[in-house]
Amino acid sequence: MPWPIHRPRRIRERPALRDLVRETRLAPADLIYPIFIVSGHNQKRPIPSLAGQFHLSPDQAAVLAKSFSSRGGRALLLFGLPDYKDEVGSSGADPQGPVPLAIQAIKSAVPEMVVITDVCLCEYTSHGHCGLVEDQRVKNDPTLPRLAEQALAHVRAGADMVAPSDMMDGRVGAIRRALDEAGYEDKPIMAYSAKYASAFYGPFRDAADSAPSFGDRRGYQMDPANRLEARVEVDLDLAEGADIVMVKPAGPYLDIIREIRDRIDRPLAAYQVSGEMAMIKAAATAGLLDFQAVALESLLGIKRAGADLILTYLAPEALDWL
Ligand code: PBG
Repeated sequence: MPWPIHRPRRIRERPALRDLVRETRLAPADLIYPIFIVSGHNQKRPIPSLAGQFHLSPDQAAVLAKSFSSRGGRALLLFGLPDYKDEVGSSGADPQGPVPLAIQAIKSAVPEMVVITDVCLCEYTSHGHCGLVEDQRVKNDPTLPRLAEQALAHVRAGADMVAPSDMMDGRVGAIRRALDEAGYEDKPIMAYSAKYASAFYGPFRDAADSAPSFGDRRGYQMDPANRLEARVEVDLDLAEGADIVMVKPAGPYLDIIREIRDRIDRPLAAYQVSGEMAMIKAAATAGLLDFQAVALESLLGIKRAGADLILTYLAPEALDWL
């Protein structure tokens, strides 16, 4: 079918025609906005490492939920910064902790908001690792009940979905069992399944005060060099009962998103992480890139690669632009 019979430009030149044949569309319902919760009242403190994001007390999280909802936002992901940390991350399961209180505040302000909680130990442990530590090693199986009790505290407070991000083996199954036994068989799990040991999490660790005090996370998060292993992680999490699986980070892992999309028939999420957003913001602030155009293109790329849902700090702005 040689030129000039086929001229791809025919359907490219007029905006209305371009729209008719557009293959990928971003929609407000695709976006999940991650926010950071501290305890107290009337707290809204800018996070230095994450321009445009705040540490919010539960009442302020409810205020944000209202404005996010009025812009068309549907779903929030909550991270907690507790008042105390110990070796085993007990504050993660405290029903009076910042996350459970914020869930309640958001739910009473905006009942229709989908409230998802990140479930992990790194924000709650004194050593900053995502699991229990013994002899400088992160212990897998003893960590599982701790994650399950944290997930349970979140759903008891009214969370609509829990999202384990720790990367311990077997945690989806352990959380599923604990939720079912407590009568929460209807609460879905979004698993951070292919979560890579990425340097792009840098700004987040300052924001969540969750940098490991020794070593790194390569003993449990995935090696960025591995593709086939992502399939294994996703298969395991689905077999253990995950309802939604996730690839994280998103932008540098578009091949993995596509790989998983082609492999599974379940919803797939991708997390545009703190470092991805930081690069876009920094380049825009330096006058090198057009913020809105690049932000939307980055999100469109993630969707085109095969993600159904995108977790992004750019959600509020993206809603206004869409
Ligand atoms: C906690 C967690 C992290 C992120 C989400 N959940 C940090 C990490 O694994 O070190 C990163 C999010 C981001 O960079 O935006 N386990």
